[in-house]
Amino acid sequence: MKNLIVAVLLVASVSGYAQRGANYDESKVPEYQLPKVLVSQKGKKIKSTKSWIKKRRPELVALFEENMYGKVPGELKIDSYRIVEQSQNAINNKAIRKQVVLTFRNNGKELDVAMLLYLPKSVEKAPVFLGYNFYGNHTVTNDPEVILTESWVRNNPSFGIINNQITEQSRGVSSNRWAVEKLIDAGYGLATMYYGDVDPDKYGKAGPDFSDGVHPLLYKKDQTCPLPDEWGAISAWAWGLSRAMDYFEEDEDIDQSKVIVMGHSRLGKTSLWAGALDQRFAIVISNDSGCGGAAISRRRFGERLGGMNKYFPHWLCGNCSKYDGNEDALPVDQHELIALIAPRPVYIASAENDKWADPKGEFLSGYYATPVYELFGKQGIASGQMPEVNQPVMTTIGYHIRTGKHDVTEFDWEQYIKFANMHLKGALPGE
Ligand code: GCU
Repeated sequence: MKNLIVAVLLVASVSGYAQRGANYDESKVPEYQLPKVLVSQKGKKIKSTKSWIKKRRPELVALFEENMYGKVPGELKIDSYRIVEQSQNAINNKAIRKQVVLTFRNNGKELDVAMLLYLPKSVEKAPVFLGYNFYGNHTVTNDPEVILTESWVRNNPSFGIINNQITEQSRGVSSNRWAVEKLIDAGYGLATMYYGDVDPDKYGKAGPDFSDGVHPLLYKKDQTCPLPDEWGAISAWAWGLSRAMDYFEEDEDIDQSKVIVMGHSRLGKTSLWAGALDQRFAIVISNDSGCGGAAISRRRFGERLGGMNKYFPHWLCGNCSKYDGNEDALPVDQHELIALIAPRPVYIASAENDKWADPKGEFLSGYYATPVYELFGKQGIASGQMPEVNQPVMTTIGYHIRTGKHDVTEFDWEQYIKFANMHLKGALPGE
């Protein structure tokens, strides 16, 4: 009981302290100058897709690696995988269910990552939405056959998670955030993994913990934590999404050319970074990703990098702390992260009451990434004026701000399905 109270207080105080003093007043957003997405570090104008692909894109990837997310310090592929359970009769008989364990081995260590897949029976090779969950695969649906995770999980007493272990009580607790049946009915599969299998999201007074998850598998001799330019947790989670993609290339029931990577909040930051790096992802979706995700850092609205590096010191790389309170010195800003997804479709979603994630800053990153989409002859966001609440705009860049709080809702999923239909099936939105 005492542990439980301490855990609840710790979580409450982290978010409380982190949010104290945040600016929510648009008139207090300072004047800022964004790095020019179509000008190289040497000051050369980027005028062709060729010089974007050959020069500017790699340059920006390297800057984000070095200053924000940290680079993956080596290569680590799936060593083996096992389908541990499958059924032809899932989701009211409309879907195939597969539960797959991906195993990684290196440095005498082993890491298992469990994936839950639902694939529509109506489609032979299914397009798939891929997204991490926060508390284990069994939380995304009430399906009693989904295997309970034994991994370390962040405490959440209201979800029946205490002493960092889940219980049967936590089955389906996040099902309101996962429109599984809607996806299946629309002809899409869902693949989900627990992000803590790749790297447990441990933080607290003791500081970051890099002793578990994938990091130790790529440590050099005597290394115990990543170097300042090496992968933080977001980079490790993004790496895991690419390994899921490696698996899809092996699974004949999946159309690997139609994988949509989606994430919410810290996992939205992750889906953007994964989509920026790995061009096999056909569409990238950021749901309420905020600071370090879609939101422009230089606006200093809501959460700021300095706060994030303080309260979640393991998410970004060590070098990023150099910019705490000094966003103008960052050689990149988040519109350039969106631009790295070009010319592939990207959708950025905000929520009206999620000021902490800076909805306007999330919108503007799409707007300021647009010149790169235009270079490729694609349409982006034409006007710097935010659309009305609940009025999505969809070109190659999609955006909406919906009513409500920081969350993933049916409304969000409906837009993602429309957007995917528009780009992968050629239908117009609304059809
Ligand atoms: C905190 C954090 C955000 C993050 C969010 C989440 O609010 O400050 O950056 O997006 O947690 O992932 O739930």
